[in-house]
Amino acid sequence: MTEAKLPTGPKGNIIFTAAKELRTNVLGLIERHAKEYEDISRLRIGPYYYINVYKPEMIEHIFSDSQLYSKGRENANLKYLLGNGLLTNEGEFWMKQRRLIAPVFHKKRLATFVQQIIDITDQLMDDWEKRGEAELDIHAEMTQITLSIVSRTLLSTDASGEFMKISDALGFLMKGLSTETTKLIRLPQWMPTPYNLRMAKNRDILNKLIFDIIAERRATGAQNDDLLTMLMEVEDADTAERMTDAQLRDEVITIFLAGHETTANAMSFAMYLMAMNPDAAKRIKEETQKVLAEGPLTFESLMKLDYTTRAVKEVMRLYPPAWIIGREATRDDVMEGYLIKKGDTMMMFPYLTHRNPRYWDDPLRFDPDRFLPERMKDKPRYAYFPFGGGARLCIGNNFAMMEMQLILAMICSKYEFAVPKGFKLELEALVTLRPKGRLPLIVRRAI
Ligand code: HEM
Repeated sequence: MTEAKLPTGPKGNIIFTAAKELRTNVLGLIERHAKEYEDISRLRIGPYYYINVYKPEMIEHIFSDSQLYSKGRENANLKYLLGNGLLTNEGEFWMKQRRLIAPVFHKKRLATFVQQIIDITDQLMDDWEKRGEAELDIHAEMTQITLSIVSRTLLSTDASGEFMKISDALGFLMKGLSTETTKLIRLPQWMPTPYNLRMAKNRDILNKLIFDIIAERRATGAQNDDLLTMLMEVEDADTAERMTDAQLRDEVITIFLAGHETTANAMSFAMYLMAMNPDAAKRIKEETQKVLAEGPLTFESLMKLDYTTRAVKEVMRLYPPAWIIGREATRDDVMEGYLIKKGDTMMMFPYLTHRNPRYWDDPLRFDPDRFLPERMKDKPRYAYFPFGGGARLCIGNNFAMMEMQLILAMICSKYEFAVPKGFKLELEALVTLRPKGRLPLIVRRAI
């Protein structure tokens, strides 16, 4: 038997050799590495080794064992904010919570939210109608709509008042945490530095707001049609236990965070791609109008929006909001002849694998029909993984798909977009992939 070997990679510590590029052009850097090393590469950043995995079969190997490849180190930072919510939780506790929460995101229950999403999208289009043809920052518009949807479906509030306070505190904390991950020297979170004190203050604000909402629900026994009510009601099948307030807080903040920025980014890219590909936009419009001719949109009619669904998938192929997914090896492993050492950070990149010409013809072309079943059947399973994979697959993926199908279909049925002269889309790859700065598009009523 041949000895397992270490994956190859650039020499030196890239925190010194490519510090600037790491900060300013991380996508370019990883794209170059993927081209040079093809399936897998190993690089050193600071004290840690990062194993970049580009090959779908290897990605499958990592996703198939969530004990061996756990969330690990990078996650610890997020725990400060999300505690033991689903995204950051690990081990037995995670498994228990995942089992408990899975029914809340079951397709059947999601039907409850269709009308709410339709109403919120209609409201946005009413605002556009009043403005007439205009150049709008589509990223701001899409953030507004996904914030409204998460506030309504999670907490039965509108995106104002208390809800905006939650959103602001969370925005501050996330910004702090994502800058922190790029720092070479991190001071412990318990040290009373001005930064740490500001973070703690914002976390206290957030906690109080959420605990107050939970307390009010408990006091009034209100049974709203929202995710919070569903989360408060789920019971452990063996012990009949329900979630504590502290656990509810962690899950609520997690869903809030995981559930709106990703969809806002995907929808912003979707509208940009509609401007760039008017034929696709027209097909979505015609498909939606045909479905609408039979009656109002419902959970069932979503099934008929085939092309729109493929378009949503194609948007996330080119611009996956979760562009990078990390794991930590909890013990040594051998993967396709490569030695993985305990403590190595495994990096998987939907952004790269989705654009790799080995798996996708003419990868930069926007072509929703590449998701037709006959064109997908020979692809490796993890040539496409916008929602991750394995046991930790995004629990909100059906929710997200439903939300994005509805928004795209409704908007394309009435509006069209154009890119203002001279504008060139640039990307920002932080925790999520999003447009850099504003995303200006000319929005006008379709004829
Ligand atoms: C376009 C939209 C979305 C994208 C691209 C996305 C992507 C992802 C990915 C890649 C993961 C796995 C992360 C990992 O393996 O480390 C994940 C997990 C998760 N997502 Fe999403 N997500 C989206 C929307 C949503 C929505 C709408 C919700 C909730 C309403 C949600 C809730 C969650 C939760 C709770 C987890 C953690 C699951 C677990 O570890 O058990 N996501 N998401």
